[in-house]
Amino acid sequence: MSANNLKELVLPQSSKDWFVGDRFGMFIHFGLYALPARHEWVQSYEEITGSEYRKYFENFNPDLYDPREWARKAREAGMKYVVLTAKHHDGFCLFDSAYTDYKSTNTPYGKDLLQPFVEAFRAEGLRIGFYYSLIDWHHPDFTIDVFHPDRNHPDVARLNEGRDMKRYALYMRNQVTELLSRYGEIDILWFDFSYAHRDYKGLPGKGRDDWQSEELLKHVRSLQPDVIINNRLDLIDQPGYFPDITTPEQYQPRKAPLIKEQAVTWESCHTFSGSWGYFRDEDAWKSPEQLIKLLINTVALNGNLLMNVGPTGRGTFDHRADVALSAYGDWMKLHGRAIYGAEPSELSPPEGCRFTQKGNRLYLHVMDWPFRHIHLDGMAGKIAYAQFLHDASEVRWLSHEEEVDPNIGVAVPDGSMTLELPVRKPNVIVPVIEIVLSDR
Ligand code: GLC
Repeated sequence: MSANNLKELVLPQSSKDWFVGDRFGMFIHFGLYALPARHEWVQSYEEITGSEYRKYFENFNPDLYDPREWARKAREAGMKYVVLTAKHHDGFCLFDSAYTDYKSTNTPYGKDLLQPFVEAFRAEGLRIGFYYSLIDWHHPDFTIDVFHPDRNHPDVARLNEGRDMKRYALYMRNQVTELLSRYGEIDILWFDFSYAHRDYKGLPGKGRDDWQSEELLKHVRSLQPDVIINNRLDLIDQPGYFPDITTPEQYQPRKAPLIKEQAVTWESCHTFSGSWGYFRDEDAWKSPEQLIKLLINTVALNGNLLMNVGPTGRGTFDHRADVALSAYGDWMKLHGRAIYGAEPSELSPPEGCRFTQKGNRLYLHVMDWPFRHIHLDGMAGKIAYAQFLHDASEVRWLSHEEEVDPNIGVAVPDGSMTLELPVRKPNVIVPVIEIVLSDR
């Protein structure tokens, strides 16, 4: 395909406005790996053969699966869209695909999980995304590579004989057709992931030629022109290509990412505890404060946050996930105004704080609670009003003209505005001061 064709596939910004405004979504990793409950990569990490892994297929029965409950929890946490693993790397499908037997309808559970999922989340007003793994450790045409559970098999060359990635690429396009034609309008398609340069003992990694990425991209656009597609198809250095979104994973960028030296719509994805799939014994759960700060830090750099839940094998959210979600819910209920539709500010924030902004409303997120004062440099005369967001209580300020004797009181730097704060931090995880800028 020529560069021009790839250029034609670039999604206009107007099709992404909803996404940027929504800011906060829920990732859900659900599949057979919920049963071993020790990471969604368990089959690869522990080099579990297909026949050993089969026991999870034979015992998959999320009898308490109620997507309406998932959707309610997502909405209550302040999340506006959702991305669910329709298929993860183990190849297991949560939907009734005509192209494989390795699907939920053939497990003891016996049902398609996607249809009720889509209905439930739409009913709660959330937009719908599907995660679709490019990697597939079950498909017979998928060649064994660095991550494949059989990579250390003594006869790997023989196992690879007759496997045909072209047939596999067609399989993916066929399944994508199913995903994009059965469930109405889909808002996001999240492909995962490419590793063209990860050779292992003579087994090559995989990238755009294996997935037939350009073909796949074109196919998706022809089915649903407005769906947002992430950046993991290994097309980044192709002329004309520009991803709809870029997706830094499990780290906090310090600057907004650039692609081809240009600003890009971006979404950072994170877990509550390190693993994406349900991991019973994992102990690295983030604190409520870390969770809220991740969201603020991301939005302050113009990004979205996609926060993951890994439901249990019964189909429920684990208690720890519920607690983490309610930390978001409690905070977002009071502070959503500083997040939805908010953008970075051109002003640089005082130490220990972040700014977000919406028109003439500047939101000062106070991450480290200081003693009594915050100095806003260069803001003298520019503020019409200030209040805490959580309780709409007025926040007063001092300005240079009213400076108190610096030996006994507050020294207000010239040109700055000094907010007067209570000594005790208000009882919210990160207090936000809403500053109404004056027109002047
Ligand atoms: C990584 C992992 C995968 C997870 C994804 C989410 O690429 O392979 O398990 O689904 O991150 O971003």
